[in-house]
This record gives sequence, structure tokens and C-alpha cells, in this order.
Amino acid sequence: MAELTFPNGFLWGVAGAAHQIEGNNVNSDCWVLEHVPDSPYAEPSGDACDHYHRYPEDIKLIASLGFNSYRFSIEWARIEPEEGEFSYAALEHYRRMLATCHEHDLTPIVTYHHFTSPRWFAAKGGWEVMANAELFARYCERATKHLGDLIGVGCTLNEPNVGLLIQNMGFMPPDEKLATAPYRAAAAKAVGSDTFAAFPNCQQGLARDTFLKAHRMAFEAIKARRGYFPVGLTLAMSDHQAVEGGEAVRDRVRHNVDDVFLDVTKADDFIGVQTYSRSRYGSDGTLPAEQGIEVTQMGYEFWPEALEATIRYASSYTGLPVLVTENGIGTEDDTRRLEYVQRALHGAHRCLQDGIVVRGYCYWSVFDNFEWTFGYRPKFGLIAVDRSTQTRTLKPSATWLGNVAKANALSD
Ligand code: BGC
Repeated sequence: MAELTFPNGFLWGVAGAAHQIEGNNVNSDCWVLEHVPDSPYAEPSGDACDHYHRYPEDIKLIASLGFNSYRFSIEWARIEPEEGEFSYAALEHYRRMLATCHEHDLTPIVTYHHFTSPRWFAAKGGWEVMANAELFARYCERATKHLGDLIGVGCTLNEPNVGLLIQNMGFMPPDEKLATAPYRAAAAKAVGSDTFAAFPNCQQGLARDTFLKAHRMAFEAIKARRGYFPVGLTLAMSDHQAVEGGEAVRDRVRHNVDDVFLDVTKADDFIGVQTYSRSRYGSDGTLPAEQGIEVTQMGYEFWPEALEATIRYASSYTGLPVLVTENGIGTEDDTRRLEYVQRALHGAHRCLQDGIVVRGYCYWSVFDNFEWTFGYRPKFGLIAVDRSTQTRTLKPSATWLGNVAKANALSD
């Protein structure tokens, strides 16, 4: 059987995010929203996977599988619990996590912001207020000063375009509805403010403009403070496909959802591609899933070839090296996961063969975890977690992908 080999130094990782696995992120905006009446969240995040305490064993397990990198996020709500008040203890916690990665020869890929912000930030209007971009840049500066010498790769923001993408897919209400949602008023009341803008449940048009500025400011702040590592932005990238004369609609959506963000990455060191599926457009707008195509637990199509298309698009648009910072599937059936990843990796390999620079691949997610408004139902993990005992159980896909990582090759 032929082997598809990957370049030397290719990063093989698993990914997670603080709020989804650490547990008890009580100072975050998301925690507030999880606990208000009519919450958009199916259930509260609670202890999650207790990764905040269990990271030493978890990181050891990731390394033992054969991976050479781990993508995780540091939590702003812990590092800056009140505006301008930075927690040395929280920063030291993340320093220990980074050191643990190095002890196990894992390159740490650090995301500074993965959706959640401190509750005080949401109470100040969060991402809807342009001036707040500076607060994010200041946090990035402080975090880099404390942690920068141990960071392997840095991602400023995780998917600042995801709200726009899922609005276009019809999975999230339009801005007017988001602005007046009763849960938002309830959250504002809970924190004693007249507003509460938590991402992604906030006005996406306003958030977009703040994010664009915040990314550039954060990039500069990180580079100015021991940021000797590569720094980039990660985007939610769908394979946008036009059918039945839908080219104009497709191009408009792609411009609003992807291109405006790709335009602010030109000076970056890489572009982080995060892909799960495709979106189809006809002349009247977004089309539903095609009949006969399997749908995942998230309600979108099983379409692993989307990764190849998005790597090609991101690379040709920006000219930057690509790092696949997320790719994966929510399914109860681990054999579907295996097929999904195998096909996605074939696509990534075809890109490499065409000379596109792809630096690595991170599977989302390391654990079955808190899938935001869906709660714990979707199963994206390579590792299952019994949340009553916090016992971890490897799925066959974990061992399989770990072996691919060890071999730096995929059997054809
Ligand atoms: C996000 C993750 C999320 C995953 C699966 C991405 O949009 O970065 O936090 O869990 O997709 O839905």
C-alpha cells in the first residue's frame, strides 16, 4: 500500500478551548448566559472535562498517542478577572501548562481568545464597541509578556467570523433579533449593566469591525512582547459552492464572511483554517443540505473534501502558509470520524503536492466537550469523557490518528 508522507516538521495536533474543557469558567460571559432564563445554551458547562486541574495527565495522554502539538486557549476571564486587574496565579497556571507541553515534546499552539471574554467586558458592550479592541490588545500584551517564551505558535482570535457564517447558513438569528433577545437583557440585569454583548450571541456586523481592529492591534502587541513565535488569525472557513446560477450570492457571502477577514492577515505569519463542511448557494440564497448527503450531529453535511477547498482558497487569497487549526466531526459513530479525517487528510496532502504550504493539522476536538449552545450532546472528541467520574476513554480514531502522526504518513 502506498504511503502519503507529510513534510518534515509537520505539526500533528489535537485542539481544545478553555471554556469547553476546563470547567467552572465562572467569570466568563458565557457562564452568565448559560444561567439566565431562556438561555440559548442547552445546558450549563459546569465542570466540563475538569481540564483546568487534569491537564498534566491529559497532556501526557495526548503525547503518548503520537501527536507533536497541542492547541489550547488561555482564558481571558481568568487572567483579567476585573478590568485592569491581572491574575498572576492564572498566568502561572498557563505557564505550567506550557511547560508540561514542552516536557512532552508537544509544540503548544496558543489561542488568546476562543469565544469567551470576561463578564465585565460583555457588560461594557464587548465586541460591539470598537474602542474595546484596545482592551483585548492589552490583555494579549500582558499574557505574552508572561508566557511568550514558552509559546510555540500564537492565534489571536478564534473564528471571529463564525457568527456571520452561521447566520448565512440560517443557524443563527439576524442581528436585530440578537440585539433584542430576552436572554441578553436578563444577562445585562444579572451583571448590573444596561448591555451584555457576548460572542457569538451579539450583533455580528458591529463585532466584525471591532474584531478586524483587535486582530491587528493584538498582533502588534504580541510581536512587541517576546512574540518571537509565528502569529496568525484563525477563521471558520466553509467550502462555499455555487449551484444553479448562485455564483453572485456565493461571492457576496464569501466576501462578507471570509475575504474581509483575510484582508487583515496579509502581514501575519500564517492563516489558521478551520473547516467542517460546505455551504451551497443558489440564485435566491443559501440552499439546505443536498438530499441524500449524510448530515452530522451539527445539522450540516458530512463533507470532508471541504478542507482541501478551503486550504486552497485561504492560501491563494493570502499567499500565507496555512495551518489547519481545526477540522473534525461531531458523531456518535467513530468509524464515520475515521473516514472523515482520512478523506480530509487526503485533501490536505493533494494541496501539499501542488506546492501549497501547509504547516500542520489539528483535529477538533481532543475530548467530547461542551459544544456551546448544543451542550454536551455532539461528540467531536477523539477521547470520550465520562463526566460523572472524569474518566477518559480512547476511541479507535485517537489511536489511528496518533499513529498517522507518529509515522508522519497516511496509508493511501
Ligand atoms: C469552534 C469550536 C467548536 C467547533 C465545532 C468551531 O467553530 O472553534 O469551539 O466546538 O467549531 O463546532
